[in-house]
Amino acid sequence: MKNIEQALLARSRAYTPYSKFKVGAAILLKDGRYILGANIENASFGLSNCAERSALYALYSQGIPKEDIVSITVIADDEGPVSPCGACRQVMHELMPKDAKVILANTKGDIMETTTDQLLPYAFMFDEVADE
Ligand code: THU
Repeated sequence: MKNIEQALLARSRAYTPYSKFKVGAAILLKDGRYILGANIENASFGLSNCAERSALYALYSQGIPKEDIVSITVIADDEGPVSPCGACRQVMHELMPKDAKVILANTKGDIMETTTDQLLPYAFMFDEVADE
């Protein structure tokens, strides 16, 4: 599956000298392109950035509209499909369209599909942005 291949490629670029826990995220666009993100850590731990946010911030930085997103696939070497942290759930909820798929996977081949609403029920939103 191309989504998994691309998420693994993203994961290979993770910078994780502290946790050693590498995560990759691959956003599939409607035109078939992928935008990749990896977790990037820092000696000042709080500055570390998760793979999901790296990918979404890269997408926005490149001027790609969120309506172009088909899915985000996230992969790590975890027991089950990787579970996005609370901060990433909040960011995915705001920066992805409601109908986009969130595909969670691990390196053993476990995979599940969900949505940003399922991952973050009753999400915090500013009305002006929610109505857009
Ligand atoms: N991490 C991600 O990049 N995404 C997730 O969904 C879970 C956690 C990162 C943050 C940190 O670099 C490492 O995994 C361990 O928490």
